[in-house]
Amino acid sequence: MMTIQIAIDGPASAGKSTIAKILANKLNYVYVDTGAMYRAITLAAFNAQIDPNNEQAVSALLPELEITFAPGEPVQRVYLNGQEITDAIRSTAVTANVSAVSSYAAVRSSMTKLQQEIAQTSNVVMDGRDIGTTVLPKAQVKIFLIASVLERAERRFKENQAKGMNTSLAELEAAIEKRDYLDSHREISPLKKADDAVEVDTTGHSIEEVVAIVEAIIADKTK
Ligand code: CDP
Ligand code: CDP
Repeated sequence: MMTIQIAIDGPASAGKSTIAKILANKLNYVYVDTGAMYRAITLAAFNAQIDPNNEQAVSALLPELEITFAPGEPVQRVYLNGQEITDAIRSTAVTANVSAVSSYAAVRSSMTKLQQEIAQTSNVVMDGRDIGTTVLPKAQVKIFLIASVLERAERRFKENQAKGMNTSLAELEAAIEKRDYLDSHREISPLKKADDAVEVDTTGHSIEEVVAIVEAIIADKTK
């Protein structure tokens, strides 16, 4: 079956998952949040009392992990071996350690395989860091979303406030910059704009505006 693949990559908090989910709903495609998969593995390491920096021990967990999704509002629900982990994977501890876990070869190859299998059987909007470069290099549409570090930190700050989490704006900026650095400098499939991706700077743009910009790109690429 020939499926349609829309890849949305970019740095932390650029709005990838928000935009990808809205587009998937509008197009009736499957939304795949690949960041949630790496976060789920990081949480599984914590649950098993394994140090996320221990590549061998984290990699050994992989055969036992089943990550699944279900529709949900405002965010998709995520499950690890049948147990809901939607909120748990957004904790500060998971966020601080996910870049290390996602740099491991065994982790990347098993997640890439899973993501490619999903995209072979359904039309997808898939968001992450390496979708356009590695996971779906033949995607019909590739978007690279960016925004200034300050704006991305401010977006996360508002989101955290709504959840009662009180990390300062400066801490969020530092955490975002650190994660972007680690994600862009790892050896295997780093965060990088694919040569044929369209870069969209979302700084100063509302969600609705970004959706309209990306919809126009999709219409152009799939006409
Ligand atoms: O939503 P946010 O931008 O905070 O991050 P995410 O999309 O949930 O991704 C969390 C982390 O998973 C990233 O910082 C990367 O380390 C890793 N990731 C990756 O390596 N490759 C992907 N395709 C998606 C996420
Ligand atoms: O998936 P990623 O980490 O790239 O970002 P996200 O979780 O989709 O978006 C981070 C936050 O920015 C969310 O609270 C969105 O509602 C918000 N956002 C925004 O305010 N303006 C945009 N143009 C896009 C997202």
